[in-house]
Amino acid sequence: MTEAGETVVRLEGLTKRFGEGDTSILALDDVSFEVRRGEIVALLGLSGSGKSTLLQHIDGLQTATSGGGTVLGTDLAAAGPAELRRLRRRIGFVFQQFHLVGRLTVLENVCQGALGSLRGPRLGLFTYPKAVRERALEGLERVGLADWAFQRADTLSGGQQQRVAVARALMQEPGLLLADEPVASLDPESSGQVMRLLKDIGQQRGLTVLCSLHQVDLALSWADRIVGLRAGRVVLDVPTHGLGRDDIMRLYTDLEEEVVLPASDAVDADAAGAKASDGDEAPTGVSLEEAGRR
Ligand SMILES: Nc1ncnc2c1ncn2[C@@H]1O[C@H](COP(=O)(O)OP(=O)(O)OP(=O)(O)O)[C@@H](O)[C@H]1O
Ligand SMILES: [Mg+2]
Repeated sequence: MTEAGETVVRLEGLTKRFGEGDTSILALDDVSFEVRRGEIVALLGLSGSGKSTLLQHIDGLQTATSGGGTVLGTDLAAAGPAELRRLRRRIGFVFQQFHLVGRLTVLENVCQGALGSLRGPRLGLFTYPKAVRERALEGLERVGLADWAFQRADTLSGGQQQRVAVARALMQEPGLLLADEPVASLDPESSGQVMRLLKDIGQQRGLTVLCSLHQVDLALSWADRIVGLRAGRVVLDVPTHGLGRDDIMRLYTDLEEEVVLPASDAVDADAAGAKASDGDEAPTGVSLEEAGRR
């Protein structure tokens, strides 16, 4: 069990290179940051900046080229396949394309979230223990879809399917919830519903949520904190409080230039886990580069 304020994710110099030689791609470049229990963090960056690769490493699905870190107390570099499988059972993952089994009922899809804690395969809803089915129904109630429990999953709208996927992820009773562009395929209204749901559930359960997004405005209104990636590097790591859209848009344009946020922008270095100044003097501003490169 993690306690309040405890570090759930600690990355230290995480580097991932795909391939070798001239054609290799540096997808993650010396990524270091921490996420504490209960934080709601949005991961932003251009396409190809490394968001999915980073989430996959945190989920123990990829092996780093160098560096690493700990997730829910598991040392990513030292863990063997069995330990990484155990870690994945404690991490919920919500995907852009929902990944439901369309021909199965909504309820059975949610029950599948408990497979990691059950022995052997399950064929059909009634092969799941009653307690699991009841918990799955409660989860569906939580996401507002109890009336759809016995309907085929592929008859639901995209937004509804994503809410089912959230209920399925919660069946794992995760210590960490990761989401990779969970609303990229949804209309604005459904996007809002799914993101609100992720945030409300996170807050109610003290769950840590790390979610990649493409929508800057959504990230600003949704997250406590934004981590920005650019070409595999963390170039932004700031609380959203007091942050404006323009501050974030720099992530997508001219970070060559040093970007300095005024101190009055209520950039709470502590809340971001960011170290604004090494000295005793009050910081006059937090460089986005600095904040990201602690
Ligand atoms: N399995 C792989 N093999 C080779 N290169 C890969 C692999 N996975 C990712 N990459 C490369 O790593 C870089 C980061 O990719 P990643 O998918 O993490 O970016 P992203 O920020 O999630 O992008 P998007 O917003 O388009 O989803 C890209 O250059 C990509 O081509
Ligand atoms: Mg991606």
